[in-house]
Amino acid sequence: MKKRVFSGVRPTGRLHIGNYLGAVKNYVALQDEYECVYCIVDLHALTTLEETNRLQSNIYEALLDLLAAGLDPEKSIIFVQSHVPEINELFTLLGMVTPLGWLLRVPTFKEKARLHPQNINYGLVGYPVLMTSDIVLYKGEVVPVGEDQLPHLELAREIVRRFNEHFGETFPEPQAKLTNFPMVIGLDGKDKMSKSLGNHIELAATAEETTKKIMSAVTDPARKLRTDAGHPEICNIFKLRSYFESSVATALNKDCRAAAIGCVDCKKALAAAINADLAPLRARRAELAARPEYVIDIMQDGARRAQIIAKQTLAEVKQKMGLVPI
Ligand code: TYM
Repeated sequence: MKKRVFSGVRPTGRLHIGNYLGAVKNYVALQDEYECVYCIVDLHALTTLEETNRLQSNIYEALLDLLAAGLDPEKSIIFVQSHVPEINELFTLLGMVTPLGWLLRVPTFKEKARLHPQNINYGLVGYPVLMTSDIVLYKGEVVPVGEDQLPHLELAREIVRRFNEHFGETFPEPQAKLTNFPMVIGLDGKDKMSKSLGNHIELAATAEETTKKIMSAVTDPARKLRTDAGHPEICNIFKLRSYFESSVATALNKDCRAAAIGCVDCKKALAAAINADLAPLRARRAELAARPEYVIDIMQDGARRAQIIAKQTLAEVKQKMGLVPI
């Protein structure tokens, strides 16, 4: 039997190249070898209660990006988290086996609490429990994610171990699967690429928008003049070019150090490479956007298929936890 893959994306709007290189590329690559379940996690988006009026359009935009990137509804289940309400029940039940101390130690929680001290809600503390519930509701064994999600995955394994010890072997311990670019830095050259920081490039951006954003990106801060030698090891543009044009990396490394290429030319080349790489995705996205009924249908069919698995798991969990009446 094929192992099951599970992963999720928050619907914060259109996906960016950080999501793509860090996770979505693996979602696509794993489809042939595994039974894949991919989810747009709308409940997770509510933990920060931002832009809820845009939630439905954000879900739709994320779905278009995932399909355009190559998720295939014939191979994978693609659905929206809240469309399978069994998640809420499992979330409550796993909450009973998760010590509060574990959750308060999670780095992403500490960071969010620091940034938004006025909005530390119960749901935010429980974020990793909800994420664990996502994975184990579908008995996911392999979880393609970016590096930022590793602390959550570690906690998911601890919750699974604790549940299995108390109630008997029920869930596999989920393992993270990283791409070869698990932490994409944003165009500011310092923080993780993310929509909330505005240092991102959307997959669905036009070629012109992409070029404009890249031309304003930060390169090697130590290189002030065109004639200064560059330091590719600290330059995010170099990293991105090595990814999108791996064949030029060795020569570029040399040219940058010798000041044989300037940052402006380097950025122009990166923009051209990204635009060439994403052109087929962008064309597919435009085709899909012209067929909204087809896209909605995929989402509804995904929820129906996901719910079959979810109901089975939940019945097993309730039985093990003593919730089935005699
Ligand atoms: P989210 O929505 O922030 O991101 C979706 C995926 O993209 C990866 N990612 C990145 N990878 C590399 N570099 C970056 N700059 C970058 N930005 C984002 C993320 O690591 C993620 O894999 N908590 C999750 C959603 C979630 C989930 C789950 C994931 C909910 N339930 C169950 C896996 C399994 C999140 O907020 O991802």
